[in-house]
Amino acid sequence: MTDSGSQANRFYLTTPIYYVNARPHLGHAYSTIVCDAIARRKRALGVETWFLTGTDEHGQKIERSAKAAGCTPQEFATKVAGEFRGLWDRLGLTYDDFIRTTEPRHIRGVQHLFATLRDKGYIYKGSYTGQYCVFDEAYVDGPPGTPCPDCGRPTETVSEENYFFKLSAFERKLLEFYEANPGFMGPESTRREVISFVRSGLKDLSVSRTSFSWGIPVPGDEKHVVYVWLDALANYITALGYGSDDAKDKARLEKFWPADIHLIGKEISRFHCVYWPAFLMAAGIAPPRSVRANGWLLFDQGKMSKSRGNIVRAETVDEVLGADALRYFLLREIPFGQDGNFSFDALVQRYNGDLANGYGNLVSRVVNMVHKYFGGVVPEAGAATQGEAALRTSAESAIAAFGPAFDEMNFSDVLKDLWSLVAATDGYLTANAPWKKPTERSDADHAKLQARVLATAAEAIRVITALAYPIVPNAAAKVWRQLGQGELADAAKKGFLRDFKWGGLKAGTKFGEPMPLFPRAEKDAVERMQNLEDENNRSAVEAASQGEIVAPESAPAATSVLPTTATNEASAKAHEALTPTSAAPVNPARPVKSARVDPVPASLASSRLSTVPPAAPANAPLIPAESALSTAQGRDASREAAAVPPAAKSQFITIDDFAKVELRVAQILVAERVPKADKLLRLEIDLGYEKRQILAGIAQYYEPEKLIGRKIVVVANLAPRKMRGLESNGMLLAASLEGGAPVLAGFLEDVPLGARLK
Ligand code: MSP
Repeated sequence: MTDSGSQANRFYLTTPIYYVNARPHLGHAYSTIVCDAIARRKRALGVETWFLTGTDEHGQKIERSAKAAGCTPQEFATKVAGEFRGLWDRLGLTYDDFIRTTEPRHIRGVQHLFATLRDKGYIYKGSYTGQYCVFDEAYVDGPPGTPCPDCGRPTETVSEENYFFKLSAFERKLLEFYEANPGFMGPESTRREVISFVRSGLKDLSVSRTSFSWGIPVPGDEKHVVYVWLDALANYITALGYGSDDAKDKARLEKFWPADIHLIGKEISRFHCVYWPAFLMAAGIAPPRSVRANGWLLFDQGKMSKSRGNIVRAETVDEVLGADALRYFLLREIPFGQDGNFSFDALVQRYNGDLANGYGNLVSRVVNMVHKYFGGVVPEAGAATQGEAALRTSAESAIAAFGPAFDEMNFSDVLKDLWSLVAATDGYLTANAPWKKPTERSDADHAKLQARVLATAAEAIRVITALAYPIVPNAAAKVWRQLGQGELADAAKKGFLRDFKWGGLKAGTKFGEPMPLFPRAEKDAVERMQNLEDENNRSAVEAASQGEIVAPESAPAATSVLPTTATNEASAKAHEALTPTSAAPVNPARPVKSARVDPVPASLASSRLSTVPPAAPANAPLIPAESALSTAQGRDASREAAAVPPAAKSQFITIDDFAKVELRVAQILVAERVPKADKLLRLEIDLGYEKRQILAGIAQYYEPEKLIGRKIVVVANLAPRKMRGLESNGMLLAASLEGGAPVLAGFLEDVPLGARLK
């Protein structure tokens, strides 16, 4: 498994493996779609390609989510992993393998890797006491009580005898590796951030846990489980067969490793660009050839994520506009590596502009005219005039420019340029107007012009379609058939893009029947997608109320709003959108003074990256990690503001946003259970100025009769929604304790009904 560099005709690319504590959303789909586009193009170039994706199923976070959902971690993981896989299938993503970290092949490989690192002297035993953020699965520097500097959730004090990986021994080796392989990580911002992180000093890394059991047992010392990130990162080799003695597995590993691209979200660059190559170097395995970080998909101004409650599902877009529309939008709209906003309006605008009125309309005009004027058979083009020569030159430039820019992952530019060819072909058609015969032109001349123009335009469409195939594969396959080229999937298998040139559409080719590609999206498309999202949220609420497994919010003890139940995604979505402090009592972007601030720049500093690995035991070889930046931050509080990641800043809401939420005091007049819904109570409440009905998922925690007369706080201006056939007009507030138990918000003093909380 050395990098001989002799495997030019094979390509291995991977997505991150997704946590199963959240259901798949557009953010996950984005990374997987980018990989799918790359894999499709590689295969169509005749390169033997292996595209891996999967799910990350171990760790305390999953263990707790499963407990909150009332099932075993394995059941929980199986359900959510199935949702990921089902979605990738629905979207037609062409992964070659889907690895789950609970599979025996992975467990065997991780144990083999751990044992190898230990045998080689890179893993040793030591002890550690410190703060741990369960949500981010990361250690946090600081005294007990320190909140996680990234997510703001309370950390827990853990005292553990751990195995440590000698990361400190790799500082120089990593820097030399980055220097010798300038293309190893990208974009440039990621490269700079990673290098500066390593330069600031690496401490040894704790790679086992004893505080929970949902993980892979350390071989020979089974009260420890392997640290989730060592477990997760290893998927990239275990899926190929690492740790297996089987000849086929060994051959696959030998053939595809090292990976050509690990595609990841930017928040996990440290794990992929620092820890992962260090683990591999220590085990005597070649590091991956490159790691490429995509930016974040933002929605409602924040990173789309379950914990922020601002997710959109890929299924919704697929249902209304189709998977190609989603793929095209994500790759065209967001320059790869940067953050990008998702909005239904922008999506529909792009869809109508570029796909329905642009490419789709062009194809339909040309195919219909070939049917109308030539009985569906491609005519002989005859001698080219200046117009044909110009279009051909544009198409040839597009072919030449496409590959290198695509390989650089400049998808947005690539599509912009390709769509200039759509526009040029449209312009060429309009200029020649083959549908209109001027009176002075003879019938014979007009037939010649029609033949020349339609054969040339159809050839341009063939070029556009071939290049666009990895991005809009379904539409491209339809066009391929209409152009009489047969099945594009078969052509792709045969590497049709290798030596692809202008001029492949031969005279005499019989066209297929015209068929619609991208029907224009009507005015209500945005509304339909919004409704689908709302509908889905409502069904999640109902499913939860019937005791089904739903991926719960895993934040421990947090103030929350409970529309129906504390442990469902929809309630999380609702409450987090309304209560900025709900999950994070401390401003998540601004680490508290007592905590040592991680000297990692913005994009590296999010999620699990915002914390440093725990200090190694006294006898460990330690390289000081205090960096110029962290020291400066300690001295100069004003620098803290500068260290706030831009995406984190957008978690703030303005006072105007807050003013939109109408929180009022109400009194419970009637409380009763809802038949066949274990978790739901139906409440009639008095707001002073009106009486209403609300539904709340607190039946497992509160006896209805004891609630009568109690004063509560409700969100009074929440849009009504139906659950189990009953309408809920508002939502009550409660603190959500670990495991999901709610504690209703109330007052010590007497407060009049209807009083507003400001
Ligand atoms: N399980 C780890 C990864 C282990 S890889 C060895 C993890 N999982 S995750 O489910 O939290 O997110 C994984 C990836 O999903 C991100 O790195 C990113 O590729 C993608 N995204 C999730 N939300 C996203 C956005 N809002 N925007 C863009 N990509 C996002 O971290």
